[in-house]
Amino acid sequence: MRWLRRALPAAVLAPLLAACSLDGAQSTFSPAGEIARDQMDLFMWTYWLSWPVMIGVFGALIYVLFRYRRRRDDEMPVQSHGNPALEVILTIIPVIIVIAVAIPTVRSIFRTQTYVEPTEEDVFVHVTGYQWWWKFDYPQYGITTANELHVPAGKRLVLQLNSADVVHAFWVPRLGGKVDLIPNQDNQLWLRADEPGIYPGQCAELCLGAHAYMRMKVIVTEEDEFEEWVASFQEPEVVTASADQQINQGRQLMASKGCIGCHSVDNYAEGLSVGQPIYPDLTNFGLRTSVGAAVLDATLENVAQWIADPQSVKPGNRMPTLWQEDDPNREQEATAIAAYLLSLGAENDAQQASAGGN
Ligand code: CUA
Repeated sequence: MRWLRRALPAAVLAPLLAACSLDGAQSTFSPAGEIARDQMDLFMWTYWLSWPVMIGVFGALIYVLFRYRRRRDDEMPVQSHGNPALEVILTIIPVIIVIAVAIPTVRSIFRTQTYVEPTEEDVFVHVTGYQWWWKFDYPQYGITTANELHVPAGKRLVLQLNSADVVHAFWVPRLGGKVDLIPNQDNQLWLRADEPGIYPGQCAELCLGAHAYMRMKVIVTEEDEFEEWVASFQEPEVVTASADQQINQGRQLMASKGCIGCHSVDNYAEGLSVGQPIYPDLTNFGLRTSVGAAVLDATLENVAQWIADPQSVKPGNRMPTLWQEDDPNREQEATAIAAYLLSLGAENDAQQASAGGN
């Protein structure tokens, strides 16, 4: 009984320590789209089907253990050979169970995993995995962005997935998934979200370095809000001077610190963009809710911290530190760059950027 006293609290504590919950932001048990619901229904069907099997097997085992246990040393069990009726029954029952699992599984696979030809009605996005962030291209609208995928509620989102380096996996648990991103191979996944909301996801394939920080958000909005978002990207506002001195300084630092050598920022100047960027596109950064591949909320303080010392936020990432350790201007300059970035695409640029940090 002593082992039981030790094992029982451990068994109860394990799920708590693992932070298991049924309605978490990344829980497959609270589906928010038809694919996720399909997968959850399939899981629950299999789960309930396994109960009678478990009760039957353990019941028979326990019964036999007690009923036929050796009582006397000289006792010999009854010797028998085969029981055709029992063998037929024990073959038929599993076959029925396998069929009961296979039919809905195959039906669901055909419904959700068959290649679909994207139409005008769909939102079509090329997803490219990078160590350790996500690029989202919307060929229908000529938009490129990173780490935050916008889509209207109720619309089918057709994703074409590929990788620029190693194998990654696209996974947004509440909407469904997951599908690998493989270099030189296009995989497809389609999703449909029921309601507006923010659905966090993350890379689900070990891709070294900052894999655990390779996160993203699917931002589901109403149709008109999505159209506004698209329009703001199709004609990003180019701001070369602002009434806010901090933003002006930030804009200058974007060039002098070399940020625009790696990151495309269509708001920076007409026609200035890095050809085939291998780092996140920062156009309309002020519309983002997060920074560092959805690791931190995009407040002035967080964005400044990310720029000043990226390794402290996301160990292993490839963003260089632009200042010497003891540079007295580091914090001030990083904050200016953050203020500039947060002003891009945001409606009320100066106020929003400075309000964000307080
Ligand atoms: Cu990308 Cu793990």
